[in-house]
Amino acid sequence: MKKGISFDRLARYEGNLPRYTSYPTAVQFTEAVGFNEYQQWLQALPEGEPVSLYLHVPFCDELCKFCACNTQVVHQESIRSAYGDLLCEELKRLAGFLQARRSVSFIHFGGGTPTTLPMNAMKKVMQTIYNLFDIQQNADISIELDPRHVSVEYFSMLHPLGFTRVSFGVQDLDPKVQKACGRIQSKELTAHCINVVRQNYIQSVNMDLIYGLPNQTVESLSATIRSVVELKPDRLAVFGYAHVPWKFKRQTLLEGDVLPDSIERFQQRQVIDEILQEAGYQVIGLDHYALPHDSMSKSAQQGTLHRNFQGYTVDDAPALLGVGASSVSIVPQGIVQNHPSVAAYQKAMSQEGLPIARGVGRDEEDLLRWTVIERLMCDLYIDLNQITRQYNKPDNFFDDALLKLKSFEEDGLVKIESYKITVTEEGRCFLRNIVVVFDTYYRVAPQRHAQAI
Ligand SMILES: C[S@@+](CC[C@H](N)C(=O)[O-])C[C@H]1O[C@@H](n2cnc3c(N)ncnc32)[C@H](O)[C@@H]1O
Repeated sequence: MKKGISFDRLARYEGNLPRYTSYPTAVQFTEAVGFNEYQQWLQALPEGEPVSLYLHVPFCDELCKFCACNTQVVHQESIRSAYGDLLCEELKRLAGFLQARRSVSFIHFGGGTPTTLPMNAMKKVMQTIYNLFDIQQNADISIELDPRHVSVEYFSMLHPLGFTRVSFGVQDLDPKVQKACGRIQSKELTAHCINVVRQNYIQSVNMDLIYGLPNQTVESLSATIRSVVELKPDRLAVFGYAHVPWKFKRQTLLEGDVLPDSIERFQQRQVIDEILQEAGYQVIGLDHYALPHDSMSKSAQQGTLHRNFQGYTVDDAPALLGVGASSVSIVPQGIVQNHPSVAAYQKAMSQEGLPIARGVGRDEEDLLRWTVIERLMCDLYIDLNQITRQYNKPDNFFDDALLKLKSFEEDGLVKIESYKITVTEEGRCFLRNIVVVFDTYYRVAPQRHAQAI
């Protein structure tokens, strides 16, 4: 191992932890918070500020055995189109609950695979958004897609509809890993999609990769990453495989060797990091990389990066409004989630109001703790005194948390000086372990979150 923590110390940081894409995290959502609260929060959103939209499309063409997203295989065009109609209806209701017509700075379509919406349905959804909201001229409009199932015609529709960014699922290029995961996708196909996307004026291409999958080795991943670099994606999200079979039974279908242990995962992550940085990618937060020209690199350098349910984002709007089954909405006063299954979502949409299943309110202390967690996850630095004063808390407010970070300091993962915390380069991989000390709701529960390293 080239740098950082020794293997025996690594064991200390094993365990399952939240991904910290919000605070409080999804574990704290309850049915006690629902549509009534959300309606009030929407009406109290400050006037004149933009909002962001997240639209969830839960359908896929094929099942990936590793997938831990809310998704299902549905082929019938009629079901897909009917779902598009529900998205339009929910958008109309949502706009009706806002005090005034809002401007929109970010729109993201996630899934599942949002390109499973038939072309006409996608056009209808986008037209509905344009009718109901003022889309800012430089708005960031992005969509996740599966290169195995998008036609050239579909790609050519994206830019005219306003899309500026696409995100491809790739995961790994090694045939042995692809077979174990049930996702066969050649490098040639991915390369072809990138070319088509670029010919169609899309400015930024992101690729998703995963390490920690069955049959992956440090050597096989080195080959995959070198190959991916040749395709020059503007951004890369490199996720550690989240094995949560108690939530997603499909993961029990994975084939191949046993899953890599924490030491192997750590080594795989290191080799990915080395190759990508050598190739000119800037490392961002826990698991993202971007070329210097990309807005995510610029945002990271300026300290304006954010984190939400989509992972890292340059979106700085104060409200992210989710539409579609399982989508999550985050506003300053709280977080709510729509009904996760399509059936429950449909049923809720047959009644009045918005299809909220559960949520959680946020008080001043939650917002303070989220600020600390988010800035550490994004900037790897926080001046605690500056933040606690902003929230009218005493300087010693986080002394308990700082005490817990002592062992991290001894391991060289953080530096603490006069209430200023800097996460070292060695500590980057342990960001989730570091920020959990600021989470007062966290309780150890093995079958709740995914592996931290
Ligand atoms: C919902 S998928 C969208 C991609 C698109 N549907 C496709 O098939 O290419 C979003 C991304 O989540 C990541 N992902 C899904 N399951 C994961 C897991 N168990 N662990 C880590 N990352 C995962 C994958 O990298 C995937 O590309």
